[in-house]
Amino acid sequence: MSRKLPETLFSEAQIAQRVDEIAAQISSDYAGKGEIVLLGVLKGAFIFLADISRRLTIPRSIEFIAVSNYEHGSTPSGAVRLVMDVRESIQGRHVIVVEDIVDTGQTIHYLIDMLKSRGPASIRTCVLLHKEHKTEIDVDIDYLGFTIDDEWVVGYGLDFAEHDRTLPYIGVVKPDD
Ligand code: IMP
Ligand code: MG
Repeated sequence: MSRKLPETLFSEAQIAQRVDEIAAQISSDYAGKGEIVLLGVLKGAFIFLADISRRLTIPRSIEFIAVSNYEHGSTPSGAVRLVMDVRESIQGRHVIVVEDIVDTGQTIHYLIDMLKSRGPASIRTCVLLHKEHKTEIDVDIDYLGFTIDDEWVVGYGLDFAEHDRTLPYIGVVKPDD
């Protein structure tokens, strides 16, 4: 069965350039501060985290956490659920939470609250995409890739019901695709 590919919103080259810029900014902000912890939120952030982490010029370790809030595709189920916790302690460490997208803001809000209670030396957020007009909760995004409209996007780690996660670019899913 053939299917139309999602329309390009950000090309591979556009993403690569933005990732370069963000990694350079993080490298400069944390220079001389010792090792940072890049904490990726599974699954959506895995490719973004892989690319950011390989461009940093500062010491870093990689950790993952998994949450779930959208049970199927784009239908929000409401609550955020912790599916897999971090393996190492983050106490006294400089943590950057790496997330694919902030929509309502629930997920990142829940994560930051929980992680702050564990006593990190500092905590910041690095987010690839922000659906600015849909965000209901005050969230601090310290490093942002792109702001987008209220559309469902896939590729570069993001999925629609597990489809299109490994598309090399970021595309928009239209209802009749
Ligand atoms: P929030 O809690 O409403 O901010 O939703 C954030 C989470 O929903 C993200 O981590 C994604 O997993 C998922 N999500 C929201 N919008 C999209 C989208 O357009 N494409 C893919 N995943 C999305
Ligand atoms: Mg996510």
